[in-house]
Amino acid sequence: MDYKGYIAECISKALNDDLDKVLGLLSVPPNENMGDVAFPCFSYAKQFRKAPAMIAQEVLERIKSDSDFDEKIIAKMEVAGGYLNFFLNRNEFISSVVSDVVEKGVDFARSDEGNNKKVIVEFSSPNIAKPFHIGHLFSTSLGNSIEKIYSYLGYDTVKINHLGDWGTQFGKLISAYKRWGVDEDILKDPINELLKIYVKFHQKAEENPSLEDEARMYFKKLEDGDEEIVRLWKFFVEVSMKEFSRVYNMLNISFDSYAGESFYQDKMPEVIEMLEEKGLLEDSEGARVVTFGDMPPCIIIKKDGTTIYATRDIAAAIYRKRHYDFHKNIYVVGLPQTLHFKQVFGVVDKMGFGWADDCVHVGFGTVRFPDKKLSTRHGDVVFLEDVLNESIAKTREIIENSSTTKEIENVDEVATKVGIGAILFTFLRNARERDIVFTWEDILDFEGESGPYVQYSYARGKSILRKAEEQNIEYRGAKLDVLDSQEEFALVKLIKDFPEAIRNAANKYEPSIVTRHIVDVAQAFNKFYNSCSILKAEEDVMKARLNIVEASCICIKTGLNLLGIEEVEKM
Ligand code: ARG
Repeated sequence: MDYKGYIAECISKALNDDLDKVLGLLSVPPNENMGDVAFPCFSYAKQFRKAPAMIAQEVLERIKSDSDFDEKIIAKMEVAGGYLNFFLNRNEFISSVVSDVVEKGVDFARSDEGNNKKVIVEFSSPNIAKPFHIGHLFSTSLGNSIEKIYSYLGYDTVKINHLGDWGTQFGKLISAYKRWGVDEDILKDPINELLKIYVKFHQKAEENPSLEDEARMYFKKLEDGDEEIVRLWKFFVEVSMKEFSRVYNMLNISFDSYAGESFYQDKMPEVIEMLEEKGLLEDSEGARVVTFGDMPPCIIIKKDGTTIYATRDIAAAIYRKRHYDFHKNIYVVGLPQTLHFKQVFGVVDKMGFGWADDCVHVGFGTVRFPDKKLSTRHGDVVFLEDVLNESIAKTREIIENSSTTKEIENVDEVATKVGIGAILFTFLRNARERDIVFTWEDILDFEGESGPYVQYSYARGKSILRKAEEQNIEYRGAKLDVLDSQEEFALVKLIKDFPEAIRNAANKYEPSIVTRHIVDVAQAFNKFYNSCSILKAEEDVMKARLNIVEASCICIKTGLNLLGIEEVEKM
């Protein structure tokens, strides 16, 4: 039942005014004693030449006298100042929302509004032979959740990992490998070893600049498809991917495509030709660039004739449009690359592709680690696997020291899901453009607005439902219109609003809207749990409350899963 819609209909009929306009005016009163939905009448004062309170009173009377008016939906109306306030019929409201959620399960908020339209979500995109750093994890968490949210809303999503697997740095790496590379060491600890020789290359090149020429020569060979050099490059890709895959497996994340920068190597000549044909390329100190009125030029070809990161991104966008015919092409990449994407989309737009407007850069802030304990054996860079493992270990410790652990048979599994979920949750808790300060107290605060707190609330609900089952209590299908307490009503209202939160999260590319909503649901659930007895209540109340518990669990599980977090049944 769409309550707001119903109220708007009543008002629009009474005022003979546009339904959407009325809907847009509806608000929520500042406190619950004043009702559930408010209609401000101020904007009608001029038109009707009456005081807003008088208009509110008239609307009230007209609605009441309408033969279609349904008291089962609206229990009461009240004029307060220039507002007409509506009080929902709580019994009815709780009953209809809860029965709907319990019946539909985790699909209760699903929709088909996406109409199978294609949405590309590009995320993670680490660089071959370089560490998968915490910024990549931020992108990975966000992108994974955004994809799940779009998919839940009926879009046909494609997850792309735009690997950084091409560029002049590979010439340097090959040169370094030929000088100092030891296969045995590389196979043992690929990324660290490759990083080590790459750093060494830079040091040595300072003393001996001819190394740079050597590197350029190798990159040229790579571009020309030299067999030995290509084989080496493939080796670097392979050993790096193996490491990245370990992280993806830990996070339970997969991709539909790993078409990274190298994939566009043979697609660039055509793009450059198109740019030339359209007269968009200009000379600038030997380089070929596209200029804009309002931002720095985008370099397409460097003065040594090679293409760059941006050129590959332009080729990628065009390829994606042709291959997927996307409705939206989303890039989940840190805020420092904002200008880069403005330029890339700007070039595409100048090429006359209207779909440039369907390309979206979803940026995010930086991550800081004030917690010294988090820095690792690897020195300055924080390695992701270490962070994940540490979170799992710490979670395990907390669970093992808690009094309820005895019941948990699968401590490892629970610690993994909760520990990893806690990290993902931390990335998805605040508006994405805000910087994040990572501290263990925060991440694993079982009582704060954390992953473990939400997980625990779910497990708490499930434990009640298990007890009910053990006692053979048949609560499904019970009569539900017996509940009307403030705690129950507040909780059910939040559950009812969840689909709208998901839609907002999609529109703003902001999973934190989902995160915050399930934190609210978890908090409301705990309030309800603490103030309403469930299994000790009278039979009909008990059964109805068990349905609220089940609806809450369904809502929390749906939310966690949309964040890419797996729920646990016991903890
Ligand atoms: N590999 C890049 C990095 O680590 C991110 C790639 C972002 N995606 C893109 N289409 N440019 O910074």
